[in-house]
Amino acid sequence: MIGVFDSGFGGLVVLREFLQVLPQYDYLYLGDNARIPYGTRSDRVVLRFTEQAVDYLFRQGCQLIILACHTASAKALRTIQQVYLPVHYPDLRVLGVVIPTVEEALARSRRGSIGVIATEGTVASRSFELELHKLDPGVEVVQQACPLLVPLIESGEQDWEGTDMILRRYLAPLKAAQVDTLILGCTHYSILKDKVAAIMGDGITLVCSGQVAAAKLVDYLKRHPEIESRLSRGGTRRFLTTDLTPRFQMLASLFMGNAVDSEVVEL
Ligand code: DGL
Repeated sequence: MIGVFDSGFGGLVVLREFLQVLPQYDYLYLGDNARIPYGTRSDRVVLRFTEQAVDYLFRQGCQLIILACHTASAKALRTIQQVYLPVHYPDLRVLGVVIPTVEEALARSRRGSIGVIATEGTVASRSFELELHKLDPGVEVVQQACPLLVPLIESGEQDWEGTDMILRRYLAPLKAAQVDTLILGCTHYSILKDKVAAIMGDGITLVCSGQVAAAKLVDYLKRHPEIESRLSRGGTRRFLTTDLTPRFQMLASLFMGNAVDSEVVEL
């Protein structure tokens, strides 16, 4: 199976893109809804929670896990790849969404001026900035934490005019810096993509990690037949969550486009 992990149900946006391009595989989705948000937590806690999730998914039989959560990708992925996997699961792989998104943003940026909006934790980790500068030291990067957006979307307030006002405020420094490309660096933000595009105006290129991660996964599996050959091809999808409330069901429909049946698990 391919495991897809997120702090909650926002990662279903990413899973949806995987299903478009790679529908043949079996997928196991895990949302840590009991402990969302990760975006406000320390590095140590995000790492611990993410390791628990990865361990759980591997024990269920996943051969490859994608961290759809940007905060987990930014704060935990490197340690998981370099320290945790070699000791616990040397033959298995965990991938994230930051590097594919960075590569895409650099490929699409015309003037080398890239904005990043993300959770507080992702911005504080400077992961996007560091990865962008690793690939292109000359690129100008403007980051903006948007701590209110996840709670607003989770409360179903994405169409409220107050959300527009807050979004305009968050985007003002990026507009002022005249970034030509903007990374939507959080699972939830693609829900606000049209609003962001309207506020930023003509000429802005938006990079959403879901689509990018899906295209990069296709490419990754072509380059790694030793992983691809281990993936089962039954076309099944299972959804696991660490907590289930009616709101999560509503959010799952918002992110996935259709209702999902989730099983509650303990990590
Ligand atoms: N999934 C998180 C991310 O993509 C957003 C929600 C949270 O803060 O946990 O950064």
